[in-house]
Order: sequence, then C-alpha cells, then structure tokens
Amino acid sequence: MLGGHVCGASLLSRRWVLTAAHCFDRSIDPEHWTVQFGELSAAPSLWNLQAYYNRYQVKNILLNPKYMGASPHDIALVKLANSVSYKSHIHPICLLDSTAEFQNRSDCWVTGWGYTDEDQSETDPLPNLQEVQVSIINSSMCSSMYQRSSFHRTIWGDMVCAGVPQGGKDACTGDSGGPLVCDVDGLWYQIGVVSWGVGCGRPNRPGVYTNVSVHFNWIQRLMLRSGRPRAHPCPLLLALLGAPSLLQLV
Ligand code: ARG
Repeated sequence: MLGGHVCGASLLSRRWVLTAAHCFDRSIDPEHWTVQFGELSAAPSLWNLQAYYNRYQVKNILLNPKYMGASPHDIALVKLANSVSYKSHIHPICLLDSTAEFQNRSDCWVTGWGYTDEDQSETDPLPNLQEVQVSIINSSMCSSMYQRSSFHRTIWGDMVCAGVPQGGKDACTGDSGGPLVCDVDGLWYQIGVVSWGVGCGRPNRPGVYTNVSVHFNWIQRLMLRSGRPRAHPCPLLLALLGAPSLLQLV
C-alpha cells in the first residue's frame, strides 16, 4: 500500500527502532518513512491528534551489512529524528544475546497489522493490530519441514521458526518487521523479527523470523556508537512503519 502501512517494528530505546531489512526494498530514503507508535489502527483518523503526536520522522536507516536483498540477515535499525516520549503503552522491548532457553516455548506472541489470511486481497482494509500465540520451533525440525516441502527453503543460522504444527497460527503479509516476543516473569523479550513464510498458517510451514539474539552485538554496537544505550529493560511496544504520505492522508 503506497503511502500507508508497510511494516511492523519494535522500539528499542527513545531513538532506535528494530525492523526487517526487506521492508526497505522499495525505498531506503529516510524521508520516505515515518514511524507511528501506540495506535491500534494502521490508519488512524485525521482527527486523531494523539496519533499525530506519536508519529516520528526517520533520521537514518541501517540495514544489516550482510543483507543481500533476501534472507538471511533480514534485519534493520531505524534511527528516529526525535526522542520518543514513553507512555504506559509506548515502551521499549528487551533483547537478549542468547535465546537458546526459548526453544520449544509456547508462550510467545506475534503481533501486526498484516493480513489475517493468505488469500486476502490487497484491497481489503487492514485490521486493527492483531496478535496470535505461537510456539518456538527448534531449527532442525523447522529445517526438515522446509526441506520436505515442494519448494525447498534453507533455514539459515540467524533464523528462528514459530507457529503450531497443525497451522492456523502465523504472521502474514504486512506483518514483516514486527516482533515475535515471549513473556518471562512479566517482561517481554523480543526473540524474532517477522521475515518470511510459505503462505500463511499452513500446516508444517511455520513462520520464519530473524533471530534477534544472533544480531545482538551488531545492534548494541550501533546503539552504543551513537550515544547513551538504554538503561533498563522494558515491556513491549509496537510500532507501525508507514510511508510519509500517511502524514498527508490522515
Ligand atoms: N514477508 C512478509 C511481509 O513482508 C511477512 C511474511 C510472514 N509470513 C508468514 N507466513 N509468517 O509482510
């Protein structure tokens, strides 16, 4: 959708947002993008002043240097032009340098404004923010599922799969860049970034996410290089990335 919602994202600190590199395949010009926080709707109404205040311009887009236009390394950092004001529903997410302990966890969630069905036509209105509970699927099992499929896909070392074996619970087109998160004692940790899938919610075709912990050092290095890092781990915030004409449209 030109001029509207493109991808999901998550807030790491007042200035930094995490998303998927492929979200910028159409444009990597910071002026073409805005980031919307704290709204359930992908297209808030013109009269929604709150939405206007929670929309930020982009200063810089940093794709992972190893990203080559397709997965793996489908991860990007977005630096905002201004500092985000945290609110009860606008908070940073926590990251970890290892998510090995999350293997097989079933209390994880993926959220986004994408389609709720793989057959949905592009003209359908996007729903409000949706969420679905998924399990983290171990990579060798995920690899063998994708090896067996008619179109064979490789699960690279920086990918993590999530879903349910019978299908029906998954991200879909438009959810890219958004977070896969797990709850540990009341704090939300981001495990993955929505990256790709074969269809949506098909049995034995789990959603494939960029494993955030594999890129932890890269993320930390860029955030540290540009000043103060985030001091405290904080609960989840969702962000909505849209093209700039969103600003003119709403
Ligand atoms: N690449 C898609 C996007 O740009 C995300 C696809 C995720 N698909 C899935 N079945 N989990 O929105």
